[in-house]
Amino acid sequence: MDNILISKMQDEDIEEALLTEQSHNIHILSKNILKEDIKNKNYNYLVAKNNDGKIIGYIGISYVLDSADIISIVVHKDYTQKGIATLLLQEIFAFAKENNIQKIMLEVRRSNLPAQKLYEKHGFKQIAIRNNYYDNTEDALIYEKEL
Ligand SMILES: CC(C)(COP(=O)(O)OP(=O)(O)OC[C@H]1O[C@@H](n2cnc3c(N)ncnc32)[C@H](O)[C@@H]1OP(=O)(O)O)[C@@H](O)C(=O)NCCC(=O)NCCS
Repeated sequence: MDNILISKMQDEDIEEALLTEQSHNIHILSKNILKEDIKNKNYNYLVAKNNDGKIIGYIGISYVLDSADIISIVVHKDYTQKGIATLLLQEIFAFAKENNIQKIMLEVRRSNLPAQKLYEKHGFKQIAIRNNYYDNTEDALIYEKEL
C-alpha cells in the first residue's frame, strides 16, 4: 500500500486505534490503559495511517533495558494482508536497534495462525508454551526475536 504514515500514538488517536480491534471483534486494550501507556517512557505505541489520515493499525511495546515485549499489534480487518503489520514491526525493529534492545518477546494464542505466520516471517522463534494461559483453556505460544 502507498503512503502509509507511521507515527507515535497520541491521545486523540486512541479511540480510532481501538476501532481496529473492534473490526476483528476482539478486545485487547482499553481506552484508559492506552491513555496511561502512551505517557509511560517504557512504552512505545505507533499508529499506521492511510492517505486519508485514517488509523488502520497500531502496535505497542513495553521495554526495559535490553528487552522488549510486544503488547499488541492489530491491523483493521479491511486493510489486512497488505503489509501494514510488516511496516509496524519494521518500525519497531528500527526503534529497538536505536535503543540497544537485544530481544523482543510476545505471546500469541495457539489458534492465531495469521499472527504466528507474521511473526515467523519476521524472524521470531517459538521458545515456550504456556498451557491453558488464555481463559484457562487456550495455550499461549511464546515467541522471541534476537536483534
Ligand atoms: C495478525 C495481523 C496483525 C496481520 O496483519 P497484516 O497487516 O495483515 O499482516 P501483513 O500484511 O504485514 O502480512 C505479513 C505476513 O503475515 C502472514 N499473514 C498475515 N495474514 C495472514 C493470514 N490471514 N493467513 C496466513 N498468514 C498471514 C503472512 O506470512 C504474511 O506474509 P505474506 O503476505 O508474504 O504471505 C492481522 O491479521 C490482525 O490484526 N489480526 C487480529 C489481531 C491479532 O491477532 N493480532 C496479533 C495478536 S498476538
